[in-house]
This record gives sequence, C-alpha cells and structure tokens, in this order.
Amino acid sequence: MSQGNRIVVMMGSIREGRINDRVAAWVMGQLQQHGFAPELLDPADPDLLPVQIQDKAAIARLRDRMAGADGFVIVTPEYNHAEPGPLKTLIDSVTDEWWARPIGLISYGGISGGLRAIEALRVILSELHTVTIRDTVSFASPWRRFDEAGNITDPEHAAAAETAMADFSHRLRWWADALADARAARPYDRPKDKEQD
Ligand SMILES: Cc1cc2nc3c(=O)[nH]c(=O)nc-3n(C[C@H](O)[C@H](O)[C@H](O)COP(=O)(O)O)c2cc1C
Repeated sequence: MSQGNRIVVMMGSIREGRINDRVAAWVMGQLQQHGFAPELLDPADPDLLPVQIQDKAAIARLRDRMAGADGFVIVTPEYNHAEPGPLKTLIDSVTDEWWARPIGLISYGGISGGLRAIEALRVILSELHTVTIRDTVSFASPWRRFDEAGNITDPEHAAAAETAMADFSHRLRWWADALADARAARPYDRPKDKEQD
C-alpha cells in the first residue's frame, strides 16, 4: 500500500497585502500535524509569477514543482463569487500533473467564507481529471481571526477549525493513498485514439 504523503499547497492570491499568507501558514502546520509532507506553491514567487503571462520557462518550473505530488490543497479567497484570476491561470497552465490526484479545497472571504470559490473550482478541476475532496475548511472574515504568523487568535474558533481540518485530512489521506495505489497499479493515460482529451 502506498503512502500519499507529498501534498503541494497552492495559494490562490497574489495581491499585495494578501491574507493568503496567514491562512496558508496555518494549513501547512495542520497538514504536518496530520502526517503529510506539504510543500508550499506560491504563485507570487518570482520564479512562478511569469506563469501569469504564460512564460514557458516559468511554466516548466511550475510543472517541476507539481510533478509527482500525491495530491494538492488549494487555499484560496473568493473574488466576485469565484477563484482569483491568477489561480485560474496557474490551474490552466498544466495538464497531466493534475491527473488522478485528489484536491482539497480551503477558502476564505466575507460572510460566505469563500464557499462559492470552492464550488466554482470543483467544476474546473473535474475537467482536469482530479477528485475534489468533499470536506472543506472555510473562514469568514479571516482578517479578524488570524494573526500575522497564521495563528487563529480565538481558542474556541481555533478548536473548531482544527476539528474541521482533522476531518478534511482524514479524507485527503484516504484519497491520496488510494489514488497512489491506483496509479502504481495502472497508469492514468490517454485513450489510445486520442492525443488530447
Ligand atoms: C476583487 C475582489 C473581489 C472580492 N469578492 C468577494 C466575494 O465575492 N465574496 C467574498 O466573500 N469576498 C470577496 N472579496 C473579499 C476577499 O475575499 C478578501 O478581501 C480576502 O482577504 C482576499 O484575499 P487575499 O487578501 O488573500 O487576497 C473580494 C475581494 C476582492 C479584492
């Protein structure tokens, strides 16, 4: 049985002064506590930022960073009831690296906690042959909940978020292990008569 430990955590915002750093820091710590080896992928990283203009070398670096992952966790805000544009560009810039991988979705935003961005992403990510995890973790008004280091300041809220993250991690673990086994047994390839699908 495989252990699908290698999880790439993809941030959704490149906005100056973004809250994304705080939420992503919390998610990284939680995933480590649940036995994963998370690696942070920041679309604002100078090496990856040129992906936004489809720079070929930057896309190659993105593919390298995603290659061989056992799964992904996307940590995203909601912009106008959907995911931010830079995240969509990142998602659209690679293909096979997504295939047959589980993806966990974590959101934040105003009163909705960014849930509409999650639902928008499910439709997009199914086109890329992924499995999105049913369980989610979401934060309404994270600017009131997280300190600069990514700690949740209210203990009661921290406990509730940790419980949600434990359920999320349990499901992510099952899918990451199951799909690692499935890919090892049989490559997830293209149908014979198709170059692209
Ligand atoms: C262009 C834009 C559109 C937004 N639209 C929504 C929205 O539809 N729903 C919502 O809950 N929050 C919305 N927000 C609030 C963001 O979720 C909030 O500002 C969040 O902190 C943005 O994440 P970031 O700071 O990591 O970029 C929007 C923010 C921006 C900048």
